[in-house]
Amino acid sequence: MYAIGVEGETRPSACIVNTVVQITSSPMTVAVSINHDNYSNERIKETGIFSVSVLSEDTSGTVIGALGFSSGRDSDKLENLSYKVLRENVPVLRENICCWFLCKVVNSVETMTHTIFIAEVKAGSDDFTGVPMTYDYYHRVIKGRAPKNAPTYQPIDEKSDNSPQMKYVCPICRFEYKDSEQKIPFDQLPDDWKCPICGVSKKEFKIEG
Ligand SMILES: Cc1cc2nc3c(=O)[nH]c(=O)nc-3n(C[C@H](O)[C@H](O)[C@H](O)COP(=O)(O)O)c2cc1C
Repeated sequence: MYAIGVEGETRPSACIVNTVVQITSSPMTVAVSINHDNYSNERIKETGIFSVSVLSEDTSGTVIGALGFSSGRDSDKLENLSYKVLRENVPVLRENICCWFLCKVVNSVETMTHTIFIAEVKAGSDDFTGVPMTYDYYHRVIKGRAPKNAPTYQPIDEKSDNSPQMKYVCPICRFEYKDSEQKIPFDQLPDDWKCPICGVSKKEFKIEG
């Protein structure tokens, strides 16, 4: 799991992806797949540069919520996060990441829905720390989902969830709170409790099932 940092028109911006892969080692190149509708796609095409912050298992779900479910076109997604802006004007996260690197686009391939940017790694952090968060960990441990613009998006098949019990579902990121899996039943959570993934308040949750 990664945060892609881009230079916005008026402020730095970032989005979550799970599609960074290494392509070659000399020169060091990587590829990333970014949806045509994402602001980050537009900005990478414009500037030819982006950063990659490698999220660690300690990265809070709220970081993924802040960057993965809304667009930098509409809001300052980094507002409540700790980050620094590199000389090249792209942001990298400061807290709970394993490392970061700076990428310059050298080629791109268009698919029906996504652009695959191929980029050379130009610089990076000196240190590597922690355990990188895999997409599986995000699903299994953080219990997060992927939104529509993620290549891995899957519409929720309500019929495939055979569990008869009620669940409380976040309207933004679809995080599910099932009483049977938690220590505290949903209705006993404090009023200021928020979705652990995207920060939506308790009262916005919808009952399903
Ligand atoms: C777990 C997860 C994985 C994601 N993977 C990708 C991805 O690989 N490519 C992509 O374009 N969007 C991906 N997304 C969705 C973007 O992060 C999301 O559409 C974001 O709102 C785009 O922000 P932007 O418009 O500021 O660029 C993912 C989101 C999550 C939560």
